[in-house]
Amino acid sequence: MKLTDRINRIQVSPTSAVITAADQLKAKGVDIADFGPGEPDFPTPDHIKEAAIKAIHENRTKYTPTGGIMPLREAICSWHKRELKSNYEPKECVVSVGGKHAIFNVASVLLQAGEEVLIPAPYWVSFPDIVKYTGATPVYVQTSVQDGFAVRAEAIEKAITPKTRLLILNSPSNPSGGVTPPDEYKRILAVCKKNNVWLMGDECYSHFTYDPHQPFSIASAKDSKDNVIIIGSVSKTFAMTGWRIGYTLGPAALIQALIKLQSQSTSNPTSIAQYAALAAMTGTMDTVPVMLAEYAKRRKRIVEGLNAIPGVKCAQPGGAFYAFPDVSAHLSGPHALAKDTTELATLLLDKARVALVGGDAFGAPGYLRISYATSLDRIEEGLRRLDRFFSRAEAAA
Ligand SMILES: Cc1ncc(COP(=O)(O)O)c(C=O)c1O
Repeated sequence: MKLTDRINRIQVSPTSAVITAADQLKAKGVDIADFGPGEPDFPTPDHIKEAAIKAIHENRTKYTPTGGIMPLREAICSWHKRELKSNYEPKECVVSVGGKHAIFNVASVLLQAGEEVLIPAPYWVSFPDIVKYTGATPVYVQTSVQDGFAVRAEAIEKAITPKTRLLILNSPSNPSGGVTPPDEYKRILAVCKKNNVWLMGDECYSHFTYDPHQPFSIASAKDSKDNVIIIGSVSKTFAMTGWRIGYTLGPAALIQALIKLQSQSTSNPTSIAQYAALAAMTGTMDTVPVMLAEYAKRRKRIVEGLNAIPGVKCAQPGGAFYAFPDVSAHLSGPHALAKDTTELATLLLDKARVALVGGDAFGAPGYLRISYATSLDRIEEGLRRLDRFFSRAEAAA
């Protein structure tokens, strides 16, 4: 079939591909230790679900303003101000169908062919493809495990060219869990300002940071507004991945352009989900520390367990809910298990019944992404399977 160049430039999200393969096996009754999904395993809190049910009963089931209902835009600005010390007004806020949609729309209104976008690697799989879809070119800036996968201003400055239009900075990072320290983030903002480059802060994991890190937004920095675009989402913080509500905060003129685009594509995000998000943004956040405490326990166990496996090295992630072990020792030499982590992930699913994503998909050859948004019992089971798989390989070597 003849399709456009722009659709042929991108691929189906590799994380979705893993989830589909694991689900197919599960449907056949195979017991999978599933470290694939990038979503909380907790239910959406009751008060949020009740707000959606109430919205249905009150017939709030019609079109809403394209950019989201005003009470939600106001609530997002107030929440962001309270939680992350920013200072936005509703005209600087648009509600979208999840954070991914928000990023896609920003890329669509800002980028064109010939322009470059800086993406720190390891990166979330969708960043490069969203950029490629617009015709712009992703330019990767390497971060290192030794430096906790933090993004550094010096590296950003070196990568900037006259064509650079945007930097996408995701902290805490999916997949590495890397957190960019606030002082460094401010230095990066200064570099972006100096070079007239937009700085997009993807804050989808803002509230999943482990001691000593704290939630931080670059929008709290002085004079940040002209260069900064904030992407947020209720997906992770409020365990609401299926509701599909995200938002963009930025200069009013940019927000107007985003609303124009939505007016000719999705129209408003689902009305009922907007009322649920309104309850999330205005209600209690007491489920957040409960989830975080559970993630912290799992993080400790999984990092310890992975480091006990032969040929596997895993650093403590500073945030999010992913362990990101280095398994490169198993990918080289005469006893290499696979040619790359994509092949290794397939092998792990087929032979060990463990679902995870190979680092190649995230621009991190030699690494695996292991989501610990799953129970401690399943983590123990998955660790046993990984240990058996890699120990056997070691013994054969
Ligand atoms: C780094 C990052 N940004 C954005 C998103 C988008 O989340 P959503 O579209 O569910 O709001 C995700 C989801 O996995 C993510 O990992």
